[in-house]
Amino acid sequence: MSKADLGKQPDEVAGMFDDVAKHYDRTNAVLSAGNAYLWRIATVRAVAPQPGERILDLAAGTGTSSVALSHSGAKVIAVDFSSGMIEEGRRKHKNIEFVQADIEKLPFGDDEFDAVTISFGLRNVKDPKQALAEMYRVLKPGGRLVICEFSKPPRALFRMGYQTYLRYVLPAVSLAVSSNPEAYSYLADSIADWPDQGQLSQWIRGAGFIRVAYRNLTSGVVALHRGRKPVDAAVLASVAKRRRSTTRKPPSTSAASTD
Ligand SMILES: C[S@@+](CC[C@H](N)C(=O)[O-])C[C@H]1O[C@@H](n2cnc3c(N)ncnc32)[C@H](O)[C@@H]1O
Repeated sequence: MSKADLGKQPDEVAGMFDDVAKHYDRTNAVLSAGNAYLWRIATVRAVAPQPGERILDLAAGTGTSSVALSHSGAKVIAVDFSSGMIEEGRRKHKNIEFVQADIEKLPFGDDEFDAVTISFGLRNVKDPKQALAEMYRVLKPGGRLVICEFSKPPRALFRMGYQTYLRYVLPAVSLAVSSNPEAYSYLADSIADWPDQGQLSQWIRGAGFIRVAYRNLTSGVVALHRGRKPVDAAVLASVAKRRRSTTRKPPSTSAASTD
């Protein structure tokens, strides 16, 4: 059985999800005490999919969120890099299109989607800022971003109780219900290591999104973040220019100048 660590090497993360794929949805429902269902409803409402829209559901896993989004009549594309999760998703949801790809390098053109959403996926990505840059790139101007992710409960007493749950209760329950309990010790570690609501909001703004806001679910165990890709051509051009300058390779120090 494989377990990823906080280095989040893509093959290790994908392998870990391959191992839990078969019972992922059931384990999820048990470990979240049913809250996963409520978080999904809140996420779909925030995405507000409309008939005919193209929606990208990233780190879609077995496609449970993709199906919920597709009930609106939108065309939903589910992306994940775990072949095990996709196999399980294709078996359960025949009408959803699954694409196997890494979020850090999406196989789509610029400005293709009306909305991009990711639930409990960004925390597992090796370079989340690169993933946010990809989400921005594939969204149409004015397109909507919705991120649902574990976060930090702001109230100290609640936070202490939650940390106790992560440290003692979650490992014991996952031992009973999961096919790969080690994966759930990665879950606790990755939640503890993940930035809080304010820090993630800064990353989203840093990727170029505007109207960035979040709201806490279950007292901040989870936060629902939103943003918009700007419509204004001047703003889009300045974000693109900034991106080009940060992704440009530094000049080689060993090679002689050619001009
Ligand atoms: C915790 S599951 C969430 C699944 C689903 N979104 C849900 O809410 O039930 C995280 C998923 O992210 C996927 N994942 C993690 N990093 C990824 C990456 N860089 N590219 C594509 N998928 C990734 C994993 O394979 C896994 O299926």
